[in-house]
Amino acid sequence: MGGAADAITERAKEITYSETRRLLDRTQKSKALFERACKSLPQGVGSSFQAGDPYPIYLREGRGSRVWDVDDNEYVDTHGGFGCMVVGHAHPKIVEAITRAAKTGTHFAAPTEEMVLYAEELCRRFELEQVRMANSGTEATMSAIRVARAATGRDDIVKIEGSYHGHHDQVMFSVVPNSDVMGGRDQPSSTPMSLGVPKFLEGHTHVVPFNDLTVLERLLAERGDEIACLIIEPVMMNIGIAEPEPGYLQGLKDLLHRHGALLIFDEVKCGATIAPGGATERYGVVPDLACFAKAIAGGTPGAAFGGRADVMEAIERGAAQQGTFNGNPLVAAAGLAALTEVLVPDAYEYLSKLGTRMASGCAAAMTEHGIPGHAVDLGAKGCVSYRPQPLHNYRDFLETNAELFDASYPWMVNRGCFMTPGDEEQWTLSVQHTEADIDRYVDAFADLCAELARG
Ligand SMILES: Cc1ncc(COP(=O)(O)O)c(C=O)c1O
Repeated sequence: MGGAADAITERAKEITYSETRRLLDRTQKSKALFERACKSLPQGVGSSFQAGDPYPIYLREGRGSRVWDVDDNEYVDTHGGFGCMVVGHAHPKIVEAITRAAKTGTHFAAPTEEMVLYAEELCRRFELEQVRMANSGTEATMSAIRVARAATGRDDIVKIEGSYHGHHDQVMFSVVPNSDVMGGRDQPSSTPMSLGVPKFLEGHTHVVPFNDLTVLERLLAERGDEIACLIIEPVMMNIGIAEPEPGYLQGLKDLLHRHGALLIFDEVKCGATIAPGGATERYGVVPDLACFAKAIAGGTPGAAFGGRADVMEAIERGAAQQGTFNGNPLVAAAGLAALTEVLVPDAYEYLSKLGTRMASGCAAAMTEHGIPGHAVDLGAKGCVSYRPQPLHNYRDFLETNAELFDASYPWMVNRGCFMTPGDEEQWTLSVQHTEADIDRYVDAFADLCAELARG
């Protein structure tokens, strides 16, 4: 690092300290709720991803593009419930659909007409021949992998270094590996992310880098006949954002098919956010199977996976795919309304305009003040990464300046911009955000850049 970069990093540490103190002062009710919650919930939260240091901000309400915390602080929401709330909060069409479902029965564990319509819409949008329902991204990727194994009669899978596909055992390898355990660039090791993941699985989940066909080619040459599938986020969205290089996704598909293995897209984050038809549409490659959750269900806990009918046929032959709540009426109503009444083609034009305003505003501020970073603009999704060049893979992410993110989080939250607490996340915009919301975010970010540059 040069002198100017060092000075910016030092200033970032000061900002983190002073802004965190300010944040703690503003969120005393969250602190009290956290202390109470720790008695009934490990870390005081329902999911480890909601935990924050020293405590999470507890929310009480969301409307439109705004959320309010239990201390009555109001924020423009760019967290978006980890990428689900592209419809915005309490959207009238979603409220209407959920109210109707609540009045006519929220659960039967029997199929309904609305669930069939929802399935048809998912198939149409994402070029799936058949689809099955699930309740979370974790369940969708777990089921897709089982179906791929059943269809190929093989056990092993391949995943990408630095990708998250949910918290079931098989994919909990090399999600955020530390540099001391991740192995060589040409042969990444498979390292568990969690306690409690059985050791024997390690040899059955192989890890390859994103945007690299050579390492996969070598792996397939050695053990291609053991590999059922490769699961990949077609655009990596758990390291900030890394886009696929031209030809990479098609190259993967061709290579896997040459060895009788299947390609699974994990579109849990990018489906319904970066284009009406997700990554499949945006990058023009149709996978064998694809997984969806988050934005497809209008803010309810719905998910799905599907693809080629001849692969999904494994379910009819005996691959177990079930769940009491799969496709339940509440999710089907909210999901169908989200996809057919809210997230229509015009909405994506609007989201794209907002996203470009946000990303170009942030990029201009970094350029003006000499902050080492870049902004990514992908429809409803985007991010600032504190590394001047775009990311190509997970190892590039390790070169981002975490001190700058640490300063940005309390700075932005103190200025009324609610954002995700980790530097691996990105913003999610909604159809209810306005240009004024975006400008509020960009202005606060530009002030941060000016303050950092004072270092
Ligand atoms: C790409 C991806 N796949 C799967 C999941 C798991 O989804 P869920 O948290 O709904 O289980 C996530 C969650 O963030 C994700 O980002």
